[in-house]
Amino acid sequence: MEFQWYPGHMSKAKRAMQEDLKLINVIIELVDARVPLSSKNPDIDPMANGKSRIILLNKCDLADPVVTAQWKKYYEERGFFVSLVNSKNGKGVKQVNEVIQSACKEKIERDRRRGILNRPIRAMIVGIPNVGKSTFINSFAGKACTKTGNKPGVTKGKQWIRLNKNVELLDTPGILWPKFEDQTVGLRLAFIGSIKDELSNQYELCLLLMEYLRDNYPSVLAEAYQIEQEENDIKLLESIAKRRGCLKTGGELDLDKAANYVIDDFRNGRLGNISLECPDR
Ligand code: G4P
Repeated sequence: MEFQWYPGHMSKAKRAMQEDLKLINVIIELVDARVPLSSKNPDIDPMANGKSRIILLNKCDLADPVVTAQWKKYYEERGFFVSLVNSKNGKGVKQVNEVIQSACKEKIERDRRRGILNRPIRAMIVGIPNVGKSTFINSFAGKACTKTGNKPGVTKGKQWIRLNKNVELLDTPGILWPKFEDQTVGLRLAFIGSIKDELSNQYELCLLLMEYLRDNYPSVLAEAYQIEQEENDIKLLESIAKRRGCLKTGGELDLDKAANYVIDDFRNGRLGNISLECPDR
């Protein structure tokens, strides 16, 4: 299976992001906790140029907590401030405020030494599509936030969300493009649904997912569908099709339909907490 990506306005978006980056102190980058490396676009790193960096391992409710802890350590060792969040139910979202303060400690102290008080930290959310940027902003900013208008001369055309007296967030997130010169990365992004499903054959995708699960989370499918473990994945998919009543009009098993169920169940966490990559492999 081959994945390709043709981002229409990539260079324009990249330039816009470079402009936005000039306005902020800290970059808050969302990655998907199930694929914290594949869902991160490394092109942001050279653009970040000296800014404080935060990585939020979002959708941590879907990932394997043991592996997520390894990723936290991995990124911390590389100079990022890291936090785990579930933007959907809000868990860990509030704590991001403290992480921002820690990440910008030096700037806050520098301001204080110069007698500049109450200058808010300015932050921007970035991430590839579907990683949860809008959900996070809604949860983080909540209802209490006030939108600050344009500030003449400085931030013309930009909307800021005032989170509290210390932090302002750029209203629109920066959209990074998924980057997958490496096909494994493409495959992992397809598993989580970050690549449009029309680009991939769902049956084939499902068998690849089943292969990964067999190697890394061996009993997860048998347990989720309450079926016997089978020795090969096609047999296992047939059992799932039977269990879920996936039949074609003639009564024949509909494996495409079963494949869709498996992928959908995985994406929604119904197969349990599963990570698709580890720092060491
Ligand atoms: P984006 O702005 O980065 O493109 O992503 P967006 O917020 O639109 O979120 C993409 C999908 O991910 C949404 O699901 C959203 O609910 C889900 N999501 C975001 N954060 C989390 C999280 O921490 N945990 C889980 N489990 N899901 C999360 P959707 O199916 O597209 O929409 P909806 O039906 O949930 O509204």
